[in-house]
Amino acid sequence: LPTHFTLPSGDKIPSVALGSWRSGPGEVGRAVQTALKAGYRHIDTAWAYKNEAEIGEALKASNIPRNEVWLTSKLWNTFHAPEDVEPALDESLARLGTDYLDLYLIHWPVAQNKDGTLNKELTENNYPTWQKLEELVAKGKIRNIGVSNFNIRRFEKLTSNSLKIQPAVNQVELNFWNPQPELVKWAKEKGILLEAYSPLGSQNRVKDSLDVPEVKEISQVLGITPAQVLISWQVQRGAVVLPKSVTPSRIVENLLITKIPDRLFNTLEAVATSHKPERSVDPSKKWGVDIFE
Ligand code: A2P
Repeated sequence: LPTHFTLPSGDKIPSVALGSWRSGPGEVGRAVQTALKAGYRHIDTAWAYKNEAEIGEALKASNIPRNEVWLTSKLWNTFHAPEDVEPALDESLARLGTDYLDLYLIHWPVAQNKDGTLNKELTENNYPTWQKLEELVAKGKIRNIGVSNFNIRRFEKLTSNSLKIQPAVNQVELNFWNPQPELVKWAKEKGILLEAYSPLGSQNRVKDSLDVPEVKEISQVLGITPAQVLISWQVQRGAVVLPKSVTPSRIVENLLITKIPDRLFNTLEAVATSHKPERSVDPSKKWGVDIFE
């Protein structure tokens, strides 16, 4: 399986990243240090995770040159107004202790006002926010820009503007319970890289994911763990994968991906896509919008 994917900019993004959503204070730094020692060179975080500072310290402590580690962060909903984008990025950069990001994403297509209410205009039209990101690439503060949690409609609405820079990636939930085959097919056709968050099903679905009979069977045939099957599956589908863990043994385990033979891959794809999809992560209704409609 590919160790890297190539973005439109020519940059090569490592296919497995350490995810850090819900990696809390006092544990995320150690997780990053363990990951870097194990060979990870891709860390995924966000302003909203409140862990950028501890990640930054761990990166510094590792003494690995900045240009050898791929760093992704994300713009939070309350900073979509064009004048708020650069200050939000600067805050992430300062916390991470760096002067550029490899990849910066619009975290959700949802814009919120400072009081948490929905900014309808900037939610239905992400272009003003995007233009600001394009400027920040020109300024050298970001090398690549992309989006997260965009469905096809919202992605195509954004790219119907005459963009200077196309979104390099769309980071979305992809796992056994929510495999999104149409999105995967669409991304492949359009040449857009997907990034798979919650590849194990996130929190309370992890155990169920690891217990799927077909996943167990493949793990036995290949002599790998069920988690490695699920993580490998996403890379083999063409996506960057972002398993989150703060447990040293799991962090090491999750980096080892293996090609699944076509017959078994097709079995897994078929069984995953034959049940009603269940999304684990969708806070949008509480924000007053159904973003996946
Ligand atoms: P922990 O961080 O305590 O190790 P996802 O990436 O789908 O959101 O899943 C993250 C969850 O899965 C976390 O609760 C994490 O626990 C757990 N997890 C991560 N890697 C593994 C693994 N290899 N085996 C079992 N559970 C794992």
